This record gives sequence, structure tokens and C-alpha cells, in this order.
Amino acid sequence: METFIRNMPKAELHIHIEGSLEPELMFALAHRNGVRLPFASIDEVRNAYHFTDLQSFLDIYYAGAAVLRQEQDFYDLTWAYLERARGDNVRHTEIFFDPQTHTERGVPFETVVTGVHRALQQGERTLGITSNLILCFLRHLSAEAAMATLEQALPFREWIVGVGLDSSERGHPPAKFTNVFDRARSEGFVTVAHAGEEGPPDYIWQALDLLKVSRIDHGVRCEEDAQLIERLRRQQVPLTVCPLSNVKLRVFEHMGAHNLKRLLNLGLCVTVNSDDPAYFGGYINDNFIAAHQALGLHRDHVIQLSRNAFRATFLDVSAQQQLLDELARYVGESPY
Ligand code: ADE
Ligand code: ZN
Repeated sequence: METFIRNMPKAELHIHIEGSLEPELMFALAHRNGVRLPFASIDEVRNAYHFTDLQSFLDIYYAGAAVLRQEQDFYDLTWAYLERARGDNVRHTEIFFDPQTHTERGVPFETVVTGVHRALQQGERTLGITSNLILCFLRHLSAEAAMATLEQALPFREWIVGVGLDSSERGHPPAKFTNVFDRARSEGFVTVAHAGEEGPPDYIWQALDLLKVSRIDHGVRCEEDAQLIERLRRQQVPLTVCPLSNVKLRVFEHMGAHNLKRLLNLGLCVTVNSDDPAYFGGYINDNFIAAHQALGLHRDHVIQLSRNAFRATFLDVSAQQQLLDELARYVGESPY
């Protein structure tokens, strides 16, 4: 099964590009840019990755992102992720970036988006990985700051498929960003939002009804609300679930307690993703394998997870179908 999982064609729909910054690259970029890190060594960085909740992670994640200064840094970061994704047989990826983490430090929006975009183009040409880019607003900052960020994005709208919402969830409900998301949709962007990771099921309702999202990022706390489960099932709203992240940030005590298999068995459109792979102990295949080992996923579960992800992409229907056909060929030819 593990070989079957590793070689299976897949799509990744929930990956923060800043969360793919491995300690080795963090140190190399700190050196290149003359940035002082609060860590003496790569081992010290890794040892600091013990989190108690989402906020304890975000504090370290934003500190690490301070080494990203120049367009080439964003290119190198994105390229390193794409090479890992290729190794995991990712055929299509939809990447989040957090421009406010950088513009707040004086790095121009254009520097960030150009570096990421250039790497994504190169990834399509030389690795055969197609991609979409999603701009996330930091929900701990104001709605006005999010609106200003959206306006900065408009000249680059050809490179950005949609907008999302991330950072500290508790106390920052989706409703805070209703106007920003209205404007984003009127400008032609699709919408997604982190909801029901640490926050209550009500935040998932708000994301659906106020922000009109096409997918929910995480969404695992939907399990507390039977009516919400029914809505997500009926409308086949994709949930971009991140198993290793949820265990590292103590949403679940251990992988055996994760509800991914239960949600899948209820008929929800669950997908598997890595979130912040450099911080949470692995990329997409590591997430599939950890969930498989702890929960006893069957071959049909694993195939369904990949099928769900291809259907949940923001690709057009014919591009989705090509990927689904590739998956069907893989399943048909696989000896497992
Ligand atoms: N930013 C990066 N990873 C995140 C997560 N898991 N939840 C909220 N914001 C994030
Ligand atoms: Zn996330």
C-alpha cells in the first residue's frame, strides 16, 4: 500500500509556500540576505518545532519567513517545494501565499508574487506540474488591511486564481471579511477559507454563507454539527484536510484519533494535504502514509482521496478529466 500511495498521481490543495521553508534553506537565505536568526544551528531550529496550538506555531512560522527578502528567495522557496512535490507524484498543486507577512516588513507585493509565479511556470515546463496560486489574507490583521492587499493584487490577477483566509482562527470569524470577499468575487477570484481547524463549526457556516467559499481548508470540526455535515455532504464541499498538521497543533491528540476516515466514510469530499510541511514533519506522501498507518485506510479510501482532490481543483473540467483518467490508468495497471 505504501508504494501504491507514493506512486499514485495526486493533487495538493492546501500548502502554504512559506510553510515549506526547510531549516537548511532558512539558514542559506539568512546568510545571503544578512538576516540574523534567533537560532544558532539547523538542529536548534528543528528542536524549536514543538507546538502547543496554532498560535505557538504561527509565532515561529512568521519569524522564519523574515529571511525571505528578494524575488530570487521566493523563487528558490517555491522551486524547492515543487521538486519535493514532483518526488511525491503531485501532478497539480494550488499554493497559498501570505503577502502581508512580507509587505508588513517592507518587501513589495510584486517581489513576492513574481518570484513565486516564475517558479510555478518553470515547474510546469520542466517538472510537468500544473498549478494555481491563492492569495491568503491574514485574519489577525484588519479587514481594511486585507482590502488594501486585494487592491495590490489586481495588477497580477492573471497569476492568481483565488483568495483565502489564514492565520489565527479563534476570535477572527469569517464574517470580519465579508466585504473583502464580496469585492474579491466581483473581481473574478474564487474563494476559500481556513475554518473549523481550531474554530467552531459556526465559522464553517460563515465561510460558506458569507464568504461563498468553494472549499473549506481543514474543516475537521464540522463533525460537531450534524446539520453542517449534511450540508457539506450534499453539496460535496471539498475539505482540504492536513493530518500531520492537526496532530502537531494538537487539534487531535494522536493520528489514531483523527477523523479523516470517519468523514470520508460519511461521504464528504475529503482531501489530504501537507499545510506547512517543513514544520509538521512531512510532505503530502508522508501525510497519506501517516493517516493510512494510523487509521487503516483501504486502497479504495486512498484512491477516493486523490479523486476528490482532482475534482476539487480550480482547473477546468477537461484538465480535471485528464488527471482523473491518469489516476484511473494508474489504478488499473497497479499490481496492488
Ligand atoms: N498559516 C499557515 N498554516 C496555517 C494553518 N494551519 N492555519 C492557519 N493559518 C496558517
Ligand atoms: Zn493552512
